[in-house]
Amino acid sequence: MDEGCSRIRRRVSVRKRNRPSLESLFAAPTAAELKSGDEEKEDEDEETVSGSRRRKTMDVQPVENIDSEEDMFGDYDSFAENSFLAQVDDLEQKYLQLPEHRKHATDHAIEDLCSESIKHNTLSITTVGDCTELKIDEHTKNQSGHEDVSVDPEADVLYDIPSSQVLFFENLYNSSSDLGDPSTEERDWNSSSHKTANEELPINNVEHPQQTDESSSKVRTSSDVNRRKSLKDHLKNTMTGNAKAQTPVFSRTKQLKETLLSEEINVAKKTIESSLDDLGPFYSLPSKVRDLYVQFKGIEKLYEWQHACLTLNSVQERKNLIYSLPTSGGKTLVAEILMLQELLCRRKDVLMILPYVAIVQEKISGLSSFGIELGFFVEEYAGSKGKFPPIKRREKKSLYIATIEKGHSLVNSLIETERINSLGLVVVDELHMIGEGSRGAILEMTLAKILYTSKTTQIIGMSATLNNVEDLQEFLQAEYYTSQFRPVELKEYLKIKDAIYEVDSKAENGMTFSRLLNYKYSDTLKKMDPDHLVALVTEVIPNYSCLVFCPTKKNCENVAEMICKILSKEYLKHKEKEKHEVIKNLKNISSGNLCPVLKHTIPFGVAYHHSGLTCDERKLLEEAYSAGVLCLFTCTSTLAAGVNLPARRVILRAPYVAKEFLKRNQYKQMIGRAGRAGIDSTGESILILQEKDKQQVLELISRPLENCYSQLVQEFTKGIQTLFLSLIGLKIATNLGDIYHFMSGTFFGVQQKILLKERSLWEITVESLRYLIEKGLLQKDTILTEKGLLQKGTIHGSEEEFQYSFHITKLGRASFKGTIDLAYCDSLYKDLKKGLEGLVLESLLHLIYLTTPYDMASQCHPDWMIYFRQFSQLSPAEQNVAVVVGVSENFIGKKASGQAIRKVDKNIVNRLYLSFVLYTLLKETNIWSVSEKFNMPRGYIQNLLSGAAAFSSCVLHFCEELEEFWVYRALLVELTKKLTYCVKAELIPLMEVTGVLEGRARQLYNAGYKSLMHLANANPEVLIKTIDHLSRRQAKQIVSSAKLLLHEKAEALQEEVEELLRLPSDFPGIVASSVEKA
Ligand SMILES: Nc1ncnc2c1ncn2[C@@H]1O[C@H](COP(=O)(O)OP(=O)(O)OP(=O)(O)O)[C@@H](O)[C@H]1O
Ligand SMILES: [Mg+2]
Repeated sequence: MDEGCSRIRRRVSVRKRNRPSLESLFAAPTAAELKSGDEEKEDEDEETVSGSRRRKTMDVQPVENIDSEEDMFGDYDSFAENSFLAQVDDLEQKYLQLPEHRKHATDHAIEDLCSESIKHNTLSITTVGDCTELKIDEHTKNQSGHEDVSVDPEADVLYDIPSSQVLFFENLYNSSSDLGDPSTEERDWNSSSHKTANEELPINNVEHPQQTDESSSKVRTSSDVNRRKSLKDHLKNTMTGNAKAQTPVFSRTKQLKETLLSEEINVAKKTIESSLDDLGPFYSLPSKVRDLYVQFKGIEKLYEWQHACLTLNSVQERKNLIYSLPTSGGKTLVAEILMLQELLCRRKDVLMILPYVAIVQEKISGLSSFGIELGFFVEEYAGSKGKFPPIKRREKKSLYIATIEKGHSLVNSLIETERINSLGLVVVDELHMIGEGSRGAILEMTLAKILYTSKTTQIIGMSATLNNVEDLQEFLQAEYYTSQFRPVELKEYLKIKDAIYEVDSKAENGMTFSRLLNYKYSDTLKKMDPDHLVALVTEVIPNYSCLVFCPTKKNCENVAEMICKILSKEYLKHKEKEKHEVIKNLKNISSGNLCPVLKHTIPFGVAYHHSGLTCDERKLLEEAYSAGVLCLFTCTSTLAAGVNLPARRVILRAPYVAKEFLKRNQYKQMIGRAGRAGIDSTGESILILQEKDKQQVLELISRPLENCYSQLVQEFTKGIQTLFLSLIGLKIATNLGDIYHFMSGTFFGVQQKILLKERSLWEITVESLRYLIEKGLLQKDTILTEKGLLQKGTIHGSEEEFQYSFHITKLGRASFKGTIDLAYCDSLYKDLKKGLEGLVLESLLHLIYLTTPYDMASQCHPDWMIYFRQFSQLSPAEQNVAVVVGVSENFIGKKASGQAIRKVDKNIVNRLYLSFVLYTLLKETNIWSVSEKFNMPRGYIQNLLSGAAAFSSCVLHFCEELEEFWVYRALLVELTKKLTYCVKAELIPLMEVTGVLEGRARQLYNAGYKSLMHLANANPEVLIKTIDHLSRRQAKQIVSSAKLLLHEKAEALQEEVEELLRLPSDFPGIVASSVEKA
């Protein structure tokens, strides 16, 4: 727990909003070499098949259509356009379109743009005090009713908390019924008592509590309370009534807790307003927050660095901040406390950007209980969830938890609706991802837009793997805090032949001999397992968990099988019953199917984990691993960044990801999974290497982390071009001067000296604009065109040129609204146009073809025999589609017989092939049988489907902007629904609940739980009895998530009612203040 290496760097960041001198612009050399610096490829080759070049959208607002799950598992997301409670959404839409919702223009943004001000960020180091105790105060407990009500603690606390917390409580109170993760037994914080301790920080008692609502924990000062009460009471009463059987004393306990909470929030609010130094009970927050951390997360005490970071002057002054600590250092807690301060004390919305869908969902589960207890909304912007623009809440604030792409769309829609200033704080986890491909470019655009349009939004970024922080600091105008703290020691080892060496930076060649592997291998065994993997894993499993990272997906499966062939039969006995359950569950969610590899490996406690699994399978396996039923995952590198699945030992089977040698960042992320705080007491990593790679590995373990570089220009059509189109479309910057200034303030602008060798930023800006004009996406405003700006060779950067302004064309708007990758917007336009001439509507095939994602097609490799067979089975009308799009039977036949044919548009042929897959899937709705028919991994088919659903929605939005394509609109609405709900439509409302996937939804539906209301009112105990293979923990999680969702929907309706009854602020003859009073 030493924190010796903690250091704080002081930095003055200068944001250049000034126009650069024109001479200096001209002095720049020409001809470009945009060096990516670190050209990281995503995972292994197969993983990129459905990788990052896809797009998706959700609603009428521009929405990025790639979603973060993709790089991890090649998924497209479906989208929320047709989401549950459609009537609620419709009402919300109507409500949002009311005139007064558009009136709150806070126009600092554009003014800020030209501001000459230079921001000097200063940082003074505060004395690091003792760790702040996070223990429950007796007095508080009594007040909140915990102690004086005799109630089953589980029933009370678990009433409305989601999975992660439920798990915690099960561990805490009900360890006998736990599935039995051996590692959890090591949590010393778990076993230690939370009961008594004197509070170290003062509790501010309040003598005059604010008026509080009966049931929900929020501050009510508005005169609207009474008017709202009837509907609200009705809803609350119903829900409380239904819940009564489980928690008879709930309302009283809750009421007491909430009274106290309201008081504390008010005190905290006042405290923060009056003095920044005078902290509230818990970092300006109600002491309830501290109690919740003890209760839900078992965190009793902040680490020293966490306290130091939270009490930095710069943090209290709300300056932007980047902080960097090793994996497992506890970065999240700091961000969460700052988010709660923003939500509860400053009463602003907060956006948290996380890299993957799975992580967003994990976070939603973790924070939902805080939302319920503390009175704020937790809104999911990932996968098929999220609303654009977000629902305008009147009282409670919202915590939006988003993937990178959805976060960007959310920011776009907030800018478009002039609500960006409602965002008080943006937190970016894994900030180093800004240097990774198109996703990095999107993250950069998001942050640059926030910096440019909202002076009041604070930005906080964190990462474990940052090297060139200075560039990021300059971009974000941020302070930097770092420490080497890691709560669990991580020991790094290398294995060469039979010997294990410890990584030791002090040793001459970076390693010292540790031990010889103590395991006798016969000759046959040696052949089967030349790397001694079995020897290594059996030192850990089954009592502790182990991850084996493999270079490819296929390799994962092979290694899992190989290990199980060698493992002793004794392993079968460990948690035999639970493993049997896992297999049954897997079959259950896959309509009786089971992967033969998993069938063989799961009885040994082993499974593979990669993008070939369906979402349902993956979730189930992860749960089993977390519960200790499975003790070994063979996985691809994507797991390192994607899922929180820690292990006692992490083994890297080779220093490669696909065929590429490991990067330092990747290595750090992978080994970082070993030994998570509170779960393991130690962690260790073993990298297996061959003699030939030794030198490279020694460099790998000793060199610094790779720098991260802006991808904005590298990702041309998805980066700078998309950016310019949206800047002009959203009117963030519409003339050349402003656009140039915007670019100077980006991460790319900061790194231009490194990234631009022969061209200047000015030239890049002008060229990109010219390109957009040539593509017909932008137009110069006519008044200023006679000079012929943007003709090649006429760029002078003159005063006059700075004034040239642009507007978006219809095609540009369509591409922007549809978030079409600009690399494909021409093709899409042409294809749709051609479709107008002869659309075959006898089946869905032609329409499906038009909405099959281009990028997925370009990476697909058809199996020609299958292609031919599938073609032959089509009806003449269906075959006609192939002819219309330009693929003949003759061609496919020749390919199938192995003849080489040139002169064919591969994109069309491949796209048609994928359309066949989708078409078959729509007809059969069984991923497993389609997977077999086309010999494609089921996970890939699932991605293809969600990708097509997303792209179909993009195409729909594209067509909505172009009059000539009116005919497609109705067709695409239906098709999008069909693709999105390829699972049966009736399951969708259930699948809206976080954590309910198709298999589970089907079970619930069959048992009579057909809507969100059914689930929210369900009794977990009854669910367990009626639903096969549903654990108590899962049942409680489902019910509490459903309750939260229902509550949010109800609140939204309530707010709409209020809004409808309110006198419009622009009502003739009424001044604004009197309207407020009314
Ligand atoms: N003060 C604390 N006391 C005890 N446990 C803590 C504390 N702070 C954080 N933890 C726990 O430590 C674990 C790791 O924390 P966290 O996930 O924040 O790490 P991280 O720094 O974000 O690592 P990574 O870079 O791998 O994401 C979590 O289980 C968290 O609950
Ligand atoms: Mg983290």
